[in-house]
Amino acid sequence: MNVLRFVLVAALAACLAAVTDAAAADLDKARKIVSGRCFLCHGMSGESSSEVFPRLATQNATYLAKQLLDFQSGRRKGSTMNAMAAALTPEEIAALGVFFAVQKADPHPPSDAGLAAVGKFLYSRGNPYSGVAACATCHGPDAHGTESLPRLAGQQALYLEGQLRQFLSGGRTNDSSVMHAIASKLTELEIKALSEYLASVP
Ligand code: HEC
Ligand code: HEC
Repeated sequence: MNVLRFVLVAALAACLAAVTDAAAADLDKARKIVSGRCFLCHGMSGESSSEVFPRLATQNATYLAKQLLDFQSGRRKGSTMNAMAAALTPEEIAALGVFFAVQKADPHPPSDAGLAAVGKFLYSRGNPYSGVAACATCHGPDAHGTESLPRLAGQQALYLEGQLRQFLSGGRTNDSSVMHAIASKLTELEIKALSEYLASVP
């Protein structure tokens, strides 16, 4: 009996070690790709080097992988990103998603607290007077998103603003036009307020 238990425990441990080794190897592969190219704009740990580049640290892994696949297929157009994603294999894309998702990032305090307060209202309650849906219903009350929906908390304000404008103009269509319907109802003040608020959420 004891022998059987020992064999079982040993087999389980070997299995777990193999899984952990594979995960570590994937993260190593991702780190190499990041240090070769991505770090230039997104930083080594996914904290972007400028406000126009999205922060990838803490973003959800499946969402990140979907965006890379969309850049690769051309479903999403993004300055240099189509070329950046072109040669990545599906395994590398999955590994890059996990690599960035597990990185830590610091919140940015809002520079305009009044504007952020307007954003907070819109985010959690929408604009019932013009028919803007509350963002929280999809992106979550804490703006952390879900596995497949993007986290907005802590994202660069300028990047958020740019994406809302792209959804509005039809420049970005890889979301099955959910965000187009929402962005088309936002005023300039609302776009600025939402971006200011979301960038400051931890
Ligand atoms: C020359 C700068 C540059 C480099 C290098 C670069 N990116 Fe990007 N990346 C951008 C820009 C700009 C965007 C936003 C594109 C847009 O406007 O939609 C972006 C967007 C992304 C997004 C989408 C983020 C989101 O929230 O939707 C992912 C994922 C991404 N990059 C991953 C990578 C990976 C992985 C690499 C390396 C293989 C890389 N990038 C290299 C500039 C860069
Ligand atoms: C009905 C669900 C839904 C609601 C409500 C919603 N979103 Fe989204 N949002 C999405 C989906 C779906 C995507 C894109 C996922 C993809 O590209 O695969 C998205 C993407 C985004 C992005 C791009 C993030 C990135 O990293 O590039 C921003 C910014 C955004 N939403 C902001 C908002 C704001 C602000 C509101 C409220 C005014 C809002 N969303 C309400 C579903 C929703």
